[in-house]
Amino acid sequence: MKRIIAVIREEQFENVKTALLKAGWEGMNVSTVKGRGRQMGIKESYRGSSYCIDLIPKTRIELIVNEKDLKDIIDIIIENARTGDIGDGKIFVSDVEEVIRIRTGERGSDAI
Ligand SMILES: Nc1ncnc2c1ncn2[C@@H]1O[C@H](COP(=O)(O)OP(=O)(O)OP(=O)(O)O)[C@@H](O)[C@H]1O
Ligand SMILES: [Mg+2]
Repeated sequence: MKRIIAVIREEQFENVKTALLKAGWEGMNVSTVKGRGRQMGIKESYRGSSYCIDLIPKTRIELIVNEKDLKDIIDIIIENARTGDIGDGKIFVSDVEEVIRIRTGERGSDAI
């Protein structure tokens, strides 16, 4: 099993959520985070002085999925989160050892 963490633009989240649901993916963790990428926030000038918004709010989606579904889910996220401008976000993938559904005791794929 794999963990997908996608950090995306807040305004793209509804798109991504709707597309995931449409494709049958229901379970997810969603939180708001503050982050920065290569550009290290945004530089803005105001009355001649330069200000830096160091950390920008982003939506972080966490999904645990079966390996066979990984590519489809990543494609859906990219397709629905992408605007083509800097700051579209990133997707991180890692291994997950075990999943347990507390109510039933099911484990592994059955618990996803
Ligand atoms: N290396 C990283 N580790 C953890 N989180 C990151 C990393 N890079 C980016 N993020 C998170 O992803 C968000 C969006 O990053 P962003 O899309 O700006 O990445 P980027 O590498 O600067 O790409 P781009 O050039 O397209 O802007 C950041 O605000 C931060 O929350
Ligand atoms: Mg960036």
